[in-house]
Amino acid sequence: MAKPRIYVTRMIPPPAFEELGRLCELEIHQSKETPPSREELLRRVADKDALICLLTDRIDGEVMEAGPNLKVIATYSVGFDHIDLEEATRRGIYVVNTPGTATDSVADFTWALILAASRRLVEADRFVRAGKWSGPWNPYLLVGKGLRGKVLGIIGLGRIGKAVAERAKGFGLKRVIYYDVVRPPKEVEERLGVEYSSLEELLRESDVISINAPLTPETYHMIDEEALKLVKPSAVLVNTGRGPIVDEEALKKALKEGRVYAAGLDVFEREPIPPDDELLGFENVIVTPHIASADEYSRELMSRMVAENVLAALSGRIPEALCNPDVVRVRPPEELKMI
Ligand code: DGY
Repeated sequence: MAKPRIYVTRMIPPPAFEELGRLCELEIHQSKETPPSREELLRRVADKDALICLLTDRIDGEVMEAGPNLKVIATYSVGFDHIDLEEATRRGIYVVNTPGTATDSVADFTWALILAASRRLVEADRFVRAGKWSGPWNPYLLVGKGLRGKVLGIIGLGRIGKAVAERAKGFGLKRVIYYDVVRPPKEVEERLGVEYSSLEELLRESDVISINAPLTPETYHMIDEEALKLVKPSAVLVNTGRGPIVDEEALKKALKEGRVYAAGLDVFEREPIPPDDELLGFENVIVTPHIASADEYSRELMSRMVAENVLAALSGRIPEALCNPDVVRVRPPEELKMI
């Protein structure tokens, strides 16, 4: 049997290539930093059985049309909003992602942003480096918001949202509330120490709002002008989910009008955010370049999981991280078997 042919849109971190390389023929876009052009992507998938992509690659019907033999599309990411799942399912293409690989890294980073934005960490660093620390100790200097007795509101109580709630236990918060379309069993809420709330109540009551939801048609611009009108002016907003969940124009307006205390943003409506974007001019906004999952452990796990799931699909098994389970009815897994 001929080896399956796989196109990989980036030189992803090890060990994926070791495992895949033994059983498959790999064609890897030779860059660690940049994706292939659209034309190149369309050309390269033409004769491939599988595609390994990143969240920077828009995988729609055009790509699937250009790769008539594609059996599996694997994304080196937890989020899969860049892939047209419906179209993939219709065509019998299995889509897999890397759930659970970034839970700790993103939850840690969410807390890094919560603390940094609340306590003005980056502003303080800039202050010292700019030579502004010239007087004696000053009790009024760079005073921020503490967390004791405060309310944390988590939007999206999936794996990452739960891990954010777990980490909240050490900060003496008064309450941790969450909003999600799916409610976990009571025992899970109790174990995490979280209470369900409507989105409106969460926005009104939270001192810290953490967005940990995926991007879906329902979450797109969930934090818009109306939502921001409900937020306390003393609240800190952190987004490590996906940029388009927040309407950035509305956020800029709220920041200008002093209706939000601070924000910590790892994701943006447009990535990379243009260097002249108004958002970068706010002293109380911390920005990072979509790196919440960027710890060595997560990167390795993501790589391993991509390889395992592609190999599972090409071995005729249902992959563990299947994003479009309905596809099994369109094309049974045995029909994908090549190894
Ligand atoms: C993901 O995995 O979806 C993150 O946004 C990048 O690791």
